[in-house]
Amino acid sequence: MKEVTKLSQENPLSSLDEWEDDLLARYPDPNAIAQEKDVSDFRDYESTEKASVKEFYRLQHINQTFDFVAQKRAEYLRFDKMEMSVWEAFDFLNKLVDDSDPDTDLDQFQHLLQTSEAIREQGHPDWMVLVGLFHDMGKVLCLFGEPQWAVVGDSYPVGCAFSDKIVFSDFFAENPDVKNPLYNTKYGIYEPNCGLDKVTMTWGHDEYVYHLLKDYLPEQGLYMLRYHSFYPQHRENAYAHLMSNHDKELFKSVSQFNPFDLYSKSPVPPDWGKLRPYYEDLIAKYLPAKLRF
Ligand SMILES: [Fe+2]
Ligand SMILES: [Fe+2]
Repeated sequence: MKEVTKLSQENPLSSLDEWEDDLLARYPDPNAIAQEKDVSDFRDYESTEKASVKEFYRLQHINQTFDFVAQKRAEYLRFDKMEMSVWEAFDFLNKLVDDSDPDTDLDQFQHLLQTSEAIREQGHPDWMVLVGLFHDMGKVLCLFGEPQWAVVGDSYPVGCAFSDKIVFSDFFAENPDVKNPLYNTKYGIYEPNCGLDKVTMTWGHDEYVYHLLKDYLPEQGLYMLRYHSFYPQHRENAYAHLMSNHDKELFKSVSQFNPFDLYSKSPVPPDWGKLRPYYEDLIAKYLPAKLRF
């Protein structure tokens, strides 16, 4: 009983999808807005915010400290938890299906497949299709026992001042790092335009999946994986002062990927039976038989 209470306090979202639904409210699809005559259907973000989402960001913003991230990196980037084939990994990820609403929510794999299919339909390179298929694989962190706020949520740098352009930035007042003179200045422990590779980001599914696949994909694809939730930069341009020119060039790829993630959701599942041979070949082309988690 005690554990259940702890879990719901740590995990205020009814499912991880609630964070993504909230992103859609914050960053609505411009094409959908253009087609919709009554713009009032797209109410402004502040008026639609949910208590569960707000509590989720409160927990993220107070708990994602530089030390917390360092500890999680040490724990997970050893990749000594499990070894799985890609197909076993998708089955494992699908254990995350939302039990409270099994009829309306598509499982994790369907979101990945819809993203990858939307990319494929537009004729992008096959490695980008693979990025679509894998971009949320890092959510397996939940199944390793991590709380929601250490798996999803907008990502942003730690070790320097938190931008006030980050959603619900008022909650950072309770993060211990804002009182640490090492970390609470504009640049903190970093140099101006040092490049994001030198910058430690919040711990979550993006950073984890980047490390999981970093030996197998071209650099543009790795940026898409690593920074796909870095909304404070790709939507708000809040951290350009830490980025190198190389990062700025590569962020064109991140921006190209983002709409496929946010706006490809459809209630109709793709026909997996028909698609499977294509994806089997694609995975065999880029990935080893087993991945270490
Ligand atoms: Fe994601
Ligand atoms: Fe996603």
